[in-house]
Parts: sequence; C-alpha cells; structure tokens
Amino acid sequence: MESVSQNKPRIIQLPKICDPRGNLTFVQDMEQVPFEISRVYWTYDVPAGEFRGGHSHRTAEEVVVASGGSFNVNLFDGEEWVTYTLNRPYQGLYIPSGYWRTLDNFASGSVCLVMTSTKYDEADYVRDFDEFKRIVSERRNGGV
Ligand code: TYD
Repeated sequence: MESVSQNKPRIIQLPKICDPRGNLTFVQDMEQVPFEISRVYWTYDVPAGEFRGGHSHRTAEEVVVASGGSFNVNLFDGEEWVTYTLNRPYQGLYIPSGYWRTLDNFASGSVCLVMTSTKYDEADYVRDFDEFKRIVSERRNGGV
C-alpha cells in the first residue's frame, strides 16, 4: 500500500554561510530536511536536451538541490503539473512520496543532488505513468 503523505512540495531554505572565500551550505540531522536521510545521490554530465526522472515513489521522500547549475523539476500530483526551477545551492525542493517527477532543461555542468528517506529499492518506484494515474485515482476513490 502506498503511503500517502499529507505533505506538499515546497522550497526549503538551507543555511548559507556567506564568506568572501566562497559560500557554504549544510544539512544536518532533521534540522533542515523533514525526514531522516538514508541516501544521497547526484546526477551530472546530463547532455543538453536530456531529461531524468519519469517516476514516482511509493514511500520515499526527497529533497532535490541544484548544487551546481540549473534545471527544472516538474511535479505531477495526478491533477496538475507544477514546475520548479532550481538554480540556487542553498535551496532544496522537498518532494513528498506519491508525486510523479521529471527533471529537464539542465544547464551545462549542472549537478542535481538528491537526499532521500530510503535506501535504493526498485520496488519503491512507480515507473509506468498509467500505473501512477491508476494509483492516484484509487487513492482518491479510497478517500485517503
Ligand atoms: P533512475 O531512477 O533511472 O534515475 P533518475 O530517475 O534519477 O533519472 O536510475 C538510473 C539507474 O541507477 C537505475 O538502474 C537505478 C540505478 N540507481 C541505483 O542503483 N541507486 C540509486 O540510488 C539510484 C537513484 C539509482
């Protein structure tokens, strides 16, 4: 059964230590991120015009950071798409479970860093868009 988060996607402001030598941002414990981080991964060297994602998670929650460069995260809750442009290393996009996401419009040299609440488990992915829409409509009909 898919866990249904009552949370909504939102931009989280991360600490920014400004310094003439260069700025610094950090995340520790659950002070900035609303879940315990189990895994961090990042994508890079994304060719121009390519897109990533194309799935939702049954349980995993994520925070996505453009630690370098700029890209768009497109989120679909089953009804509407919302696009977030990430281009600041001190902002994270919180994505609850149950949102379909695609990432595109990567500027050259961008790095997409993702903190996530679960270890990698392919069974947590919904990679078929029709299945995702079925799950959303079952969730709605179930009144969850
Ligand atoms: P994929 O989910 O397609 O990446 P994205 O959705 O970010 O575009 O993952 C690509 C491959 O990497 C796929 O074979 C699964 C594997 N993978 C891991 O082994 N561990 C991980 O933590 C992640 C995120 C992916």
